[in-house]
Formats: sequence, structure tokens, C-alpha cells
Amino acid sequence: MAKDRGATNDCPDLSVLLGPLRLRNPVMVASGTFGYGSEYMEFVDLRELGAVVVKGISLEPLPGNPPPRLVETPGGLINAIGLENVGLEAFLAQKLPYLEGMSVPVIVNIFGNTLEEYGELARRLDGVPGIVGLEINISCPNVKQGGMVFGTDPSMAASVVGTVRKAASLPLITKLTPNVTRIGDIARAVVEAGSDMVSCINTLAAMAVDVFSRRPKLANVVGGLSGPAVKPVALRCVYEVLQAVSCPVIGIGGIQNATDALEFLLLGARAVQVGTANFVRPTVTVEILEGMRRFLQFQKIRNIEDYIGTLDTSCLFPFAEETCPVPGTDGREA
Ligand SMILES: Cc1cc2nc3c(=O)[nH]c(=O)nc-3n(C[C@H](O)[C@H](O)[C@H](O)COP(=O)(O)O)c2cc1C
Repeated sequence: MAKDRGATNDCPDLSVLLGPLRLRNPVMVASGTFGYGSEYMEFVDLRELGAVVVKGISLEPLPGNPPPRLVETPGGLINAIGLENVGLEAFLAQKLPYLEGMSVPVIVNIFGNTLEEYGELARRLDGVPGIVGLEINISCPNVKQGGMVFGTDPSMAASVVGTVRKAASLPLITKLTPNVTRIGDIARAVVEAGSDMVSCINTLAAMAVDVFSRRPKLANVVGGLSGPAVKPVALRCVYEVLQAVSCPVIGIGGIQNATDALEFLLLGARAVQVGTANFVRPTVTVEILEGMRRFLQFQKIRNIEDYIGTLDTSCLFPFAEETCPVPGTDGREA
């Protein structure tokens, strides 16, 4: 049983241990869907969140891809933003002070086109007050260089993480792409290279076309699918990653409500990130937290840690004799 850190009958303890980090709760916002935090100030008291993961930061500012950059699909959103961001210097000078003032743990999502760029970003962010961790994005499908190219090959993924590990002592989270055959292999490689945790998933490579104009709906032609449509894929990825590594895993993909978030925790993810749902309901994260509290109260669970990883897999294949003998086939009477 987890220690009873602050739970009362009315208020279950939502705090989680995430490798070297202790978070007040397991609900974070996903990179690229919550700006730099201040964009949501009217809707969310950031102090309520477990952590804020900011928009992916590169060494220099980037304008991203030309429009159109967003397309809605049934149950999903395809984006080809192309990692538009203000760049490291403007982030530190103009964006971070607001987040620091809100006393919310800040995780900076970083990406580069080369190993050197990843290393330089990590070195300059290490030790900056307010930043509690780096999320290494090796999984963006919308950029021509770097991005997902690093995340689909175990040895390249390990090189990026190894470079960042050498440059920074901050806790490292590596964000994995689902656009691979064996996500567990990538997870193992990045953990061996020094990543403290992994988060998954980033978006699924996707495309949409218009039958009238006969053109792709995105100027970039391809983009990344997110939203409720990807949740089953994300759950499967988290499940496979949990089989491959023993470090903390952060579940991302299609989370819209407390039940969705709890599904990832049930598998064994120690925290979740909420992405596209922020665009639909900007208050969704606080609603998820409230829903989690109510669920735990209803289930009479005082600490969320006691729920994490409690998926019952004892009889997954009811007709497989090893796990669940079929009556009459094991010498016993039917
Ligand atoms: C508009 C948009 C921008 C995104 N930008 C980033 C980014 O800068 N870095 C990153 O690692 N992931 C980025 N993502 C991926 C999300 O963080 C998340 O992994 C993905 O959308 C799946 O979660 P969801 O289904 O809850 O949105 C972006 C997603 C969207 C929709």
C-alpha cells in the first residue's frame, strides 16, 4: 500500500512519484496543446495541474508549416503545425516567468535537427529555476528533418538521449512515436541511454484529401492524428512499453475525461498528458481531476498509487490452457 500522504475521507491523495519527481497529481497537459500556459489562464488554475509540458522548443524561433495546418476527422484532429515556436531565448525571457510565478512544475519539450542542437538545448535549460524536467521529442511526424526520424530507429533514438543525458542532469522523459512496428524496442534503447522515463504517444502519421478540389487538405500533405480516435492505439503502445521497460511511463493519446485517464493508470502509466481535448474544452484537465477524485472516493481508494497498474491480466486468454484450463481438458471433470 502506498503511504497515506494527505488523503482524507473526502479528498483522496492523487500525488504520484514519477521517477525522481513527486507530482501533486498525475494530470499534465501535452506539449503543443496548451501553448506556454498563459494562454489558458482564464480557464485553468495552473497550480491544480501535476505539471505543464510546454510547446516544443528549438534553439531558434520557427514559423512552422504554411496553412492549412489543421483538419478535423471523425474522432480526431490532424495537425501539421510543424513545431512553430518562439525559440529558446524568448521562451526563457518571456514565457517561463509566468509559469514560474504560478508555481507549477514545468517540463520543457525540446527538439532539434541535429544531435548538437538537442545537446545545446539541454545544456542551456539545465538548472533553470522552475524547470523540473525535459521531454525529448523524437517523434514529430510533421517536420522534414529530425523529428520522427530520430524516434523510429533504436540506435538513433539512443544517440539523442545519450547526448541530452551528457548535457543535463534534469530528469529526462523521452516522447515516443507510435509510427513504429516495435515501440518496446525504442523504449528499451532510450532507457538504456539514460532516459528516466518515457511518454507515449505522439501523433500517428496521417493524411486527409478533398474529393472536390482533388487536393490534400493540409499544405504539408501529411500530418499527425490525435484525439479520441487514437486512444486505443495509445493504450496498446503504453501496454507494450510497460512490458519492455521498468521506468515510469506517461500515457498520452485521446484522453477526454477521467475514465480515459484512469484507463492509462490502470495499465500502469504513472501519469497522463491531456492534449487535443484542451481545444474542445479548455477546462478539461480540472474536470478530469475532479472525476478522478470522485472515482477514488466511490471505489474507497485513498491513494491513487493503489490503483496504478492494477489491471487484472490473470485470465486474458480464457481459452489458453496454460492460463485458464478449459474444463475437461486438464484431467478434471467438466
Ligand atoms: C496542434 C498540436 C501540436 C502539437 N505539438 C507538439 C509538440 O510541439 N511537441 C510534441 O512532442 N508533441 C506535440 N503534439 C502531440 C501531443 O503532445 C500529443 O502527444 C498528441 O496530440 C496525442 O495526444 P492527444 O490525443 O491527447 O492530443 C501536438 C499535438 C497537436 C494536436
